[in-house]
Amino acid sequence: MKVAILSSVFRKEGDFKEVEEDLYTVGNAVKRVLESAGHEAVFFDVNEKTFEELRNSDIEMAFNVCERFNGSSLFEPHIASMLELLNIPYTGSGPLTLATCINKVRVKEILMHHGILTPNYQVFYSRNKKLDPELKFPLIVKPVCMDNSIGIGSDAVVNNDEELRSKVGYILRTYDQPALVEEFIAGKEITVGVLGNGRNATLLPTAEVVFKNWPAEDNKVYSYEAKWSKDSDQWKGITIEVPADLPKYQEYRIKRTALQVYNILGVRDYGRVDMRLSPDGVPYVLEMNPNPGISPTVSDDEQPDFIPLAAEKAEMNYDQLILRIFNEALERYNMTIKIMEMPKPATTENTPIAVTTEVGTALKTGNGEVQIPELKQKISQKEKPVRVDPDIVI
Ligand SMILES: Nc1ncnc2c1ncn2[C@@H]1O[C@H](COP(=O)(O)OP(=O)(O)O)[C@@H](O)[C@H]1O
Ligand SMILES: [Mg+2]
Repeated sequence: MKVAILSSVFRKEGDFKEVEEDLYTVGNAVKRVLESAGHEAVFFDVNEKTFEELRNSDIEMAFNVCERFNGSSLFEPHIASMLELLNIPYTGSGPLTLATCINKVRVKEILMHHGILTPNYQVFYSRNKKLDPELKFPLIVKPVCMDNSIGIGSDAVVNNDEELRSKVGYILRTYDQPALVEEFIAGKEITVGVLGNGRNATLLPTAEVVFKNWPAEDNKVYSYEAKWSKDSDQWKGITIEVPADLPKYQEYRIKRTALQVYNILGVRDYGRVDMRLSPDGVPYVLEMNPNPGISPTVSDDEQPDFIPLAAEKAEMNYDQLILRIFNEALERYNMTIKIMEMPKPATTENTPIAVTTEVGTALKTGNGEVQIPELKQKISQKEKPVRVDPDIVI
């Protein structure tokens, strides 16, 4: 099948280089996997010419890992819209879900409507707004529409009105968008990956961001430094554990919540729900990540992407994960052909296959020689036990 990989080439001159470089890595990794599975994969560095290029191509399917357009994450839904307009089937979530999930406040409103817990919050459009008296310090201040912990350092946690104003002012100035102020949920940090759709959606093992050697003076936040600056103390202070060490009833509640969030927001093929637990283990949803990071994590100087890591723990290697996502999308479009598996013939001398002889089951080796084993060895590795009359003597 001819597949377009929609991604972005890494450009050194842009902001948030670490994130951009990672996104490029994903595009290349997906291309390699699809090629090794026999597909023809064409890499598209998405820009204003891509619509025309795709329209003139004979692409049958797109693997959409493009999270940026002209360096902005706000255009992510438009890439999916472009594919819709061109009528090209593609992996991952649709434009409505992608657009909704960019805005953390919109997601919180929807989740609250469905009775799912998310931290209490207030949105600040100016630094002088009066703080809702219901909100209790410590609070965390973050941009409404950003990802990858951009704009979130451990200093995002504020303990009094003065710190709050200063941090809100910083977000408004720096990111040109409102500031989301949430109650800081101080328990474990858990993230859960989901694969698939509808009734067949499958949960991956839970992952925990453990603040193991975390600098004592910093608040426990999976900050930009902790995610991306490998020389920082915060980066060194993090350990990712899969599965998270949780009592069964907490794990159940977390997984159930993750699945509900996934379905409520109409996420497709793969997604990741970020949560924080209260000190007594109640999960609060921070955000939904449709089309989450799927970087192949192998090197020691990178924080792993959670989905490939959790998949690995579930005995699904990277190539299998990418092909699973691809197949989930193909199935949604009714583009899969189901082929019944046929038994494989033996290929090597040492792999015996079962053949039937007059006396029951004998073994035929790869070079065609038939060996008649002793009666007690007549059960082939590949077959269910066959009843052999013990009185027959060869
Ligand atoms: N209300 C909160 N309570 C505790 N920690 C939070 C809260 N909101 C965000 N964080 C911390 O900040 C990190 C990034 O926040 P998140 O909302 O997931 O945004 P992003 O899209 O940047 O990942 C989280 O992984 C968590 O460590
Ligand atoms: Mg997050």
